[in-house]
Amino acid sequence: MKIKHLKIRGTTFLAPLAGITNLPFRQLVKECGCAVVCSEMVSAKGIFYNSEKTITLMESRPEERPLSVQIFGSDPDAMGRAAAFVEDLGTADILDINFGCSVKKVVKQGAGVALMKEPGLARNILETVRKATTLPFTIKIRTGWDRSGDQAVEIARIAQEAGVDAIAMHPRTAPQGFRGEADWDQIKRLKTEIDIPVIGNGDINLPEDAARMMDHTGCDAVMVGRAAMANPFILAQIEEFMEKGSYSTPVPGEIFLKMERLARLYVDYFGEQVACKMLRGRLSWFVKGLPRASAFRRDLSGLESLSQTLELIRAYEKGLALAP
Ligand SMILES: Cc1cc2nc3c(=O)[nH]c(=O)nc-3n(C[C@H](O)[C@H](O)[C@H](O)COP(=O)(O)O)c2cc1C
Repeated sequence: MKIKHLKIRGTTFLAPLAGITNLPFRQLVKECGCAVVCSEMVSAKGIFYNSEKTITLMESRPEERPLSVQIFGSDPDAMGRAAAFVEDLGTADILDINFGCSVKKVVKQGAGVALMKEPGLARNILETVRKATTLPFTIKIRTGWDRSGDQAVEIARIAQEAGVDAIAMHPRTAPQGFRGEADWDQIKRLKTEIDIPVIGNGDINLPEDAARMMDHTGCDAVMVGRAAMANPFILAQIEEFMEKGSYSTPVPGEIFLKMERLARLYVDYFGEQVACKMLRGRLSWFVKGLPRASAFRRDLSGLESLSQTLELIRAYEKGLALAP
């Protein structure tokens, strides 16, 4: 698959997840095996005002590339300037615009999924951004405000005309949030309506789901969000499944090594105190379904240092190995 001049080696994208897909998490997923990782969404206004916190969200490391940086906003001029800024920063290989976020704070400012009901404004933003950057340019949309999928098709056509290079679709409506099922038929429809590549997203929990989505919709690549939070191996497993028709499942020892790796990456990046607070939640996702996970989660709640984190992980692993 190609997005403009960028050749993608593989078929998997890590979805943008605000508060989750920070640099260390992306590094971990990339090390497990994944074609493209995406940043958290970044405010165009924040870029405009040169907010340090916002600029930090776009930090990258060579080993995670290619990286897609997602921006959000509703002012065409600010979006154009933000796109040019992202390109000048030199850390992004793809520029993505958020047309899907349904969080109140974002929708209230006319951004995210609110853009799907403003085709005129959407066109203005897309044309302005296209002029402002030569980066491969994508958008990530929902189905729209209703189940029809008509707004998605309208926005996608506008995007294609404006020079957008690929579209990712999470086929739930705005009011749905994350409830109900993702309607893969809408990805299939989108694929027949536009010529640029389509990346399918929504409810991929296993490699078999990714294969089913590609078969059902004809999409060019798949994007995984929530399942990667608990299983950072899933994108690598999908790549393996697509290539060989089977995939390996990590043994607990590999999962624990990744937990240690994430702890070190977090501490390196955020500093020990902040990292340990964040790790209390992050590490608990990895043990979902393992015996005595709730006791381990309880122990995590008191994390203060890297050495304590590593000790807890090792003690939990040892306990599991000794369990009858
Ligand atoms: C915690 C969380 C944060 C998210 N943040 C973003 C975001 O910043 N930008 C975006 O386009 N979508 C965001 N999404 C939506 C996901 O990218 C994805 O479209 C959605 O979770 C459906 O895919 P999944 O079923 O694989 O999780 C977020 C979802 C979750 C659960």
